[in-house]
Amino acid sequence: MDKKIYLFANWKMYLNPAETVDLARDYSKLSYPANSVVAVFPPTVSITEVIKIFNNKFAVGPQNTYWAEKGGYTGESSAATFKQLGCTHALVGHAERRHIFHESNHDVRLKIEAMLQLGITPVLCMGETAEERKKLQTEEVLESQIRSAFMDIVWPEGMEAIVAYEPVWAVGTGESCDPNEAERVASLISNWTEKLLKRPPVVLYGGSVRGENIKHYLSMSHLSGVLVGGASTKIETWSELVKNVS
Ligand code: PGA
Repeated sequence: MDKKIYLFANWKMYLNPAETVDLARDYSKLSYPANSVVAVFPPTVSITEVIKIFNNKFAVGPQNTYWAEKGGYTGESSAATFKQLGCTHALVGHAERRHIFHESNHDVRLKIEAMLQLGITPVLCMGETAEERKKLQTEEVLESQIRSAFMDIVWPEGMEAIVAYEPVWAVGTGESCDPNEAERVASLISNWTEKLLKRPPVVLYGGSVRGENIKHYLSMSHLSGVLVGGASTKIETWSELVKNVS
């Protein structure tokens, strides 16, 4: 059987509720390669609508969660709530969460633990900043992100370990990472994860993925798919991307 191709779409805060519903309907109408696994991370307020529209055709999940189940945490939504709504996956540690909202490696770990308890598959996002890359700290930063997320954690049997390598300088900038460099980093991520979790991870690349460059990433042996932001939020660019996978 062909290797699975993961096409994950992060709609961020780009769409209002009406636009979200329209885009979800348009997503459902496209045809996708038989070996593709599609997951969509819509704005929180529209998650229920999107789940209804997809009707189990695609996975749906939040872009952020909180680890406690209930309590006085104004403005947060718990992983447990998303589970009850029917979410199967959740992004965690996205570059925008880490850098705009100052989420730490410790926060990320607590969120992952809460998700595992609930049976939600975490999609761990990680990456270095331009500054860290310039100072030759890329490996050190990534290794500490992954160790903090996975060290001594009990990973449920049968649950995939999904890691998205998203260099911060490539997210939303139009400046995508050289595919060979993404592959080099993906192989490091695979090795570290395999040592910590005793299983091979699914590694995705994210950061300015477009119709014209997706094939380069998918041809890399350690990359199983992509996490797409901007280009996933318009049906024209998303369909171009999907077409170029086939
Ligand atoms: P981008 O975002 O495709 O707009 O660079 C990727 C992401 O944030 O997951």
